[in-house]
Amino acid sequence: MQEQREIPSYLVRRGRTGPTSRDALQRLWPVYGQNELSAVAARPPQVVEIGFGMGEATALMAAAAPGSEVLAIEVHPAGIAALLRRLDAAGLRNVRVWEGDAVPVLRALPDHCLSEVRLFFPDPWPKARHVKRRLLRPSFTALLERVLAPGGFLHLATDWPGYEEHAREALAGWAVVEDRRGRPVTGYERRAHRDGREAVDLVCRPPR
Ligand SMILES: C[S@@+](CC[C@H](N)C(=O)[O-])C[C@H]1O[C@@H](n2cnc3c(N)ncnc32)[C@H](O)[C@@H]1O
Repeated sequence: MQEQREIPSYLVRRGRTGPTSRDALQRLWPVYGQNELSAVAARPPQVVEIGFGMGEATALMAAAAPGSEVLAIEVHPAGIAALLRRLDAAGLRNVRVWEGDAVPVLRALPDHCLSEVRLFFPDPWPKARHVKRRLLRPSFTALLERVLAPGGFLHLATDWPGYEEHAREALAGWAVVEDRRGRPVTGYERRAHRDGREAVDLVCRPPR
């Protein structure tokens, strides 16, 4: 059966990466980067983080839990380069990195293999005509239900007014509780706070 093409939840930004990013990508992609979905599927991680931005939380959480195997996914090369540099500087080896859309990666994973999916500050797509671009949508919920292991959960953080409600609707039937789980404060969250928006963290468990 042909897979349905979905509206992407991200915009591809144009513009070139600077020399520091290019150097990091060249030097460190061979250490941390994953190029084949089949390889990821054959050795699934425990944790997937979707849309890590500049990788601040990714690196801090990986350092705090060195036994956890993380696959960090982002579409933007400058953010990927920033995470690679953080991982290298901290000598971390428990994070693998995927460049591109998280949806095909989740689709490639075996059933019930993940203990956690992290979605920290997903793009809110605030305009009514863009709401269909939000990553949290029924097809994504179904995908999470397939890949989360028994006891596994989605950790969602958002600062956007109305996104919590959107999430609770998209995750209808799930058990949802507020819990920060030690998520570190990042530059993104500090900026949101300065702009008058408070983050809420939700730990969401699929129905059994
Ligand atoms: C608002 S930013 C938040 C970044 C980061 N989590 C933080 O807390 O600073 C959302 C990020 O998600 C990424 N993103 C959106 N949809 C994605 C997808 N389907 N797969 C991978 N990354 C995605 C975007 O490129 C963007 O960097």
